[in-house]
Amino acid sequence: MVRKPGYLDTEEVLELPAPYHRRLTEWQRRHFPELDHLVARWSEHYRHEPFRLIAKLGPLKSASIEVGKLAGRPKFSRAADMDDEMLVQSAKIIKAQCSTELGSIQQHRGSLNKAQDPKQQFDVLRVMAEEFRHAYQMMFVLASDDWSKVGQDIAAETMDQLLGMETGQHVLDAFNLYFDSFVDNCTFTAVIDRVGKYQLEMQTVFSYAPMARSMGPMLAEEAFHMASGVNALRKWAHAAARGEGNVSIASLQKHVNKWVPRGLEMFGDERGGKSAVEFGFKDMLNGVAQRQYYDELKVEVVDTLNWEILRAREPRIAREEAPAIADEILRSGGAKHGVRPEDLIALPSEKFYRRRGVYEFQKFDVRGRAMAELGEYLAHLRAVLPDAYVSGPDFKTYIGNLKAKSEGGEVHEAGLPFYG
Ligand SMILES: [Fe+2]
Ligand SMILES: [Fe+2]
Repeated sequence: MVRKPGYLDTEEVLELPAPYHRRLTEWQRRHFPELDHLVARWSEHYRHEPFRLIAKLGPLKSASIEVGKLAGRPKFSRAADMDDEMLVQSAKIIKAQCSTELGSIQQHRGSLNKAQDPKQQFDVLRVMAEEFRHAYQMMFVLASDDWSKVGQDIAAETMDQLLGMETGQHVLDAFNLYFDSFVDNCTFTAVIDRVGKYQLEMQTVFSYAPMARSMGPMLAEEAFHMASGVNALRKWAHAAARGEGNVSIASLQKHVNKWVPRGLEMFGDERGGKSAVEFGFKDMLNGVAQRQYYDELKVEVVDTLNWEILRAREPRIAREEAPAIADEILRSGGAKHGVRPEDLIALPSEKFYRRRGVYEFQKFDVRGRAMAELGEYLAHLRAVLPDAYVSGPDFKTYIGNLKAKSEGGEVHEAGLPFYG
């Protein structure tokens, strides 16, 4: 049987058209020259097949659209077959995705040399390489189709815009924050790459087939990103609980506080997401996905770290009983097995330090209690966020926006990366 394009159930490995391929590799040489080192030393670290800069299209889960107003109809194999609004919206999503991939490479690189452990550093290099492949993949989806129906060369424009972006200029806030230490590299992959996993999973239903087919291969890589981050945090937490290592529990907590609010906001406004579901781009509303993500952070990050801490002090504590013991210590404020609340990691409230969505620019502390007084609130933020972050541009922009908002003024977007 002859299959129409876009209904393929095979794996395909493809390269970008030469001019795009060249421009992306030029970007890589400037922003990520360490890739060569990774490729050369790969087999010393992993048995997994070596890294290759290619687009990978997996099989379609379903040939017909799974959700939304077009459910049951065949998925679109060509962008031109979508109506104008769908076409523009899907191009926007692909571009935003591409922007996050490139943005995270720039962030990781900022503190790559601050690692104390060569294996952890190499893992981050692999994460960066795979994010670069994801950017390549998203460019491939744009560049291998004709989007000109709405009168623009979307692939070329996206390439021009994205390749010129620096930290501070990306589409999503989480990708505009500097990494201040190697703790950021690892907290980021544990917390922010987890949002990536949610987005990719939701988009496996994407009604535009090349995008849906991109998700499986990207998801397979995402699992490593999250695991490498969580493993590093576990090691640090375990060492800190034994009075060893160079990362304190307080520092880990501050980094978790820095990233969780940004992770929550990557889902978009918790009341929104309807049109993306209607168009069959994803299968969950923002609020539903965000809630699942928040619950997963508790289990996969917080409970895991607290188990490491508890068993470092009391080896007889089993994995299953650890969360209840940790929660009890945090709730009661008292010690158990010699572990005090400040020896553990707590998940910050979903209301804490938000600048988008239902809690935007409201003053809540890490535990979700409303704070009336501005000065007190700012002092709280300075105490619970990492010092190096508080002295950086993003925090300054937040305070400016918070004050502007309370006076009914304009809110400015991400902070300036360089005042030149
Ligand atoms: Fe990625
Ligand atoms: Fe990732």
